[in-house]
Amino acid sequence: MDYLIVPGEIEPYPIAWEAVFGRAAPLAVEIGFGNGDFLVNWSLQQPGWNFIGIELSMESMMKLQKNLYQHKIVNTRAIREEAEFAIREFFPLNSLRHVLMNFPDPWPKGRHKDRRLLSGDFVHILGAVLENGGQYELVTDQQWYAAHARALFQASPLFEASYLETDPARPLATRYERKWREMGRNTYRLVARKVQNASIHRLLEDSAMPHTFIEKEIHLDSIEKLIGKEYIEAETFFVVKAVFGSPDGKGYLLRMITKDGQYKQGFYITLARHEDHRWLVKLDTTFQPYRTPAVKLAVWKIGEILNRA
Ligand SMILES: C[S@@+](CC[C@H](N)C(=O)[O-])C[C@H]1O[C@@H](n2cnc3c(N)ncnc32)[C@H](O)[C@@H]1O
Repeated sequence: MDYLIVPGEIEPYPIAWEAVFGRAAPLAVEIGFGNGDFLVNWSLQQPGWNFIGIELSMESMMKLQKNLYQHKIVNTRAIREEAEFAIREFFPLNSLRHVLMNFPDPWPKGRHKDRRLLSGDFVHILGAVLENGGQYELVTDQQWYAAHARALFQASPLFEASYLETDPARPLATRYERKWREMGRNTYRLVARKVQNASIHRLLEDSAMPHTFIEKEIHLDSIEKLIGKEYIEAETFFVVKAVFGSPDGKGYLLRMITKDGQYKQGFYITLARHEDHRWLVKLDTTFQPYRTPAVKLAVWKIGEILNRA
């Protein structure tokens, strides 16, 4: 069994989790599961629930996968993705019973605060995708981070920030938890309960494949002029990093970077000779990006600029 979910291969979004697991059951998520020990233990203790682990680290994905195989676990899957994006795009409204974060990187310095996972926006997203009565749980060794998280949840009408505990008793300690405890440091747990529904704007609501046409002949030198120019529209951004031409002049590849807010993607756009003097501009299939507003803007805008060139 393959435990790794590749969301790009299971449209539409949000994902129909009952179909993925082959059963309807309460759904829980662990964000940043690290070596995966806690998630494996949680899955074994709650066989009646379905679990998703979300992580950025490839090494963590491999460790978890091995661990799940060894324990013959059938109620858990993992996604390698940035957590705020994954929680917002892949989970239906009111679908999660529990979301857990064990020892997230706190990013204590003020100049790094944008890197902190918890923000007012993320609290709103969590409120939208948790079930009514569902819980968000944070365990951290940083008292200020627990207090900061509590203030964010208290400020949201979607949650009751129920309690903050010191040194909570837990069924299994994570690797970081053991480390902090051995150093004699306290740990803190915040639990917030969702009490009000909310809606959210998702980036992948309409994921139709973008493409456009250039109605005239194009040449490498006019395409190369696009390199390095940054295009910004509202929350979206794109830049052409490099251009490659095929020796027969019948196709070009543009290496792209896009951003939707903080969410960054790298991929290619193809310019392919269509009929006579027409050229088709579309996403190349090598790296399939999510079709976010920035990706669609990039395809459309490149067509528009080259039509005018
Ligand atoms: C400090 S480690 C804690 C690991 C584990 N929970 C533990 O307690 O041992 C934080 C983990 O969160 C992951 N992480 C950091 N930012 C993330 C993000 N935006 N989305 C998903 N995972 C993230 C990191 O890869 C890392 O494994």
